[in-house]
Amino acid sequence: MASNNNLAPYICIILSILICITPNNIFCHAAKTSGYTRSTNASADMPAEAFPAPPGFNAPEQVHITQGDCGGRGVIISWVTPYKNDYASIVRYWKACDPKHVFKARSRVYTYSYYNYTSGFIHHATIHKLEHDTKYIYELGHGDSIRQFSFTTPPKPGPNVPYTFGIMGDLGQTYASNSTLGHYMANKKGQAVLFVGDLSYADNWPLHDQRKWDTWGRFTENSAAYQAWIWTAGNHELDVAPEINEYVPFKAYKHRYHVPYKSSGSTSPLWYSIKRGPAHIIVLSSYSAFTKYTAQYNWLEAELKKVNRHETPWLIVMMHAPLYNSDNYHYMEGESMRVIFEPWFVQHKVDLVLAGHVHAYERSVSPRLNYTIVCSISCAKLLSYRQTERISNIQYNITNGQCTPIKDQNAPVYLTVGDGGNIEGLANNFIEPQPSYSAYREASFGHAVLEIKNQTHAFYTWHRNQDHEAVAADSTWFYNRFWFPKDESSL
Ligand SMILES: [Fe+2]
Repeated sequence: MASNNNLAPYICIILSILICITPNNIFCHAAKTSGYTRSTNASADMPAEAFPAPPGFNAPEQVHITQGDCGGRGVIISWVTPYKNDYASIVRYWKACDPKHVFKARSRVYTYSYYNYTSGFIHHATIHKLEHDTKYIYELGHGDSIRQFSFTTPPKPGPNVPYTFGIMGDLGQTYASNSTLGHYMANKKGQAVLFVGDLSYADNWPLHDQRKWDTWGRFTENSAAYQAWIWTAGNHELDVAPEINEYVPFKAYKHRYHVPYKSSGSTSPLWYSIKRGPAHIIVLSSYSAFTKYTAQYNWLEAELKKVNRHETPWLIVMMHAPLYNSDNYHYMEGESMRVIFEPWFVQHKVDLVLAGHVHAYERSVSPRLNYTIVCSISCAKLLSYRQTERISNIQYNITNGQCTPIKDQNAPVYLTVGDGGNIEGLANNFIEPQPSYSAYREASFGHAVLEIKNQTHAFYTWHRNQDHEAVAADSTWFYNRFWFPKDESSL
């Protein structure tokens, strides 16, 4: 009979095999700069012919929806028509299970001009008092231009209401963008999109070609007409061009993408909040004033005090420029906002801070590695991976020189998902060595999915476009800071 000592080599081999074949093994959660980097060549915009207008006279197009109130019983339905008439402004809607009771709402209609471009008629209709967690059908247009869509309202905000968000940013309208959106839709898990800014990239074209906003609206309609996209403004929404006498920031964005900012007491559509299922979502503007005494600062200070973690246990903050970023592209661009707002994020135990802007993917915080197993395998390569902890840098005040982030169990997890696939290409120049807070980073296009399971746990995955949409290149559990404030290194 073999002794225990004689069995040791076999145990090591079995452990090695098990770890290698386990898809979401412990090493996926370790600090890592992925070597999986796709071509650095920027993807080309798809031609305008790829986005034809729908058939029929004055057909509604560029249809998209977002949440229309604070708690999820309202929806803003938006669309564009070439002409303005009574028919064009009406949306008819009904519960999918009750088609005999049809309701109507009328849109408010806007147009804007930008240099040599005049928009179509942009409609926004807010419908209220919908039932939670209910599928609705809605219909736009008239005669041969009628188009029908549907959406499902979110469940009533509550502590143990499962809900799944998709996360995308910096999308643009290239062939890579098409892959990202196609993968997100094929994934089929997301019930609403948290969009972290930079939509059409119209401003990358001569004279800020506003027709690119129209093609982007047609491009995203396949998803955005059927589930709420929660909008954040990025730098490409600024659209300011003094050389052609265009001085009004966010002109196209504000006309085309209405959000329910007044219901959260905001004075600007660029910062606002909503409650959706188990999440309280706060949207901030990286490109509006946010220092002390400004409207955004005052609003956020009051807003954070209103968050009821008993009702909405998950507190999520979105902005465009990341507060923590270890890519040389856009390095430190979020630093000024970090200095102002990070103390509040820690104080109020924000769970997740979502950003885009950097055309790559990065995540902070990884649970503890099982060093016992790693060491028993004696694999030097595996030992090079390391755990990353929650960190904050709120102790730094310039004069004390304490500028290195330190472990902080009240700090959020930071996610950068700016890898939608736009015309500018990938940000593939990471800072070395990888900072201690950075758990996973990779310069590939893709999208993320956040599955909130209950008031303590959420499962998170990131999907690169090169893989089948069901494959998670990165995955981890997130633990709620308010209800499950465990140290990841102890789990
Ligand atoms: Fe950006």
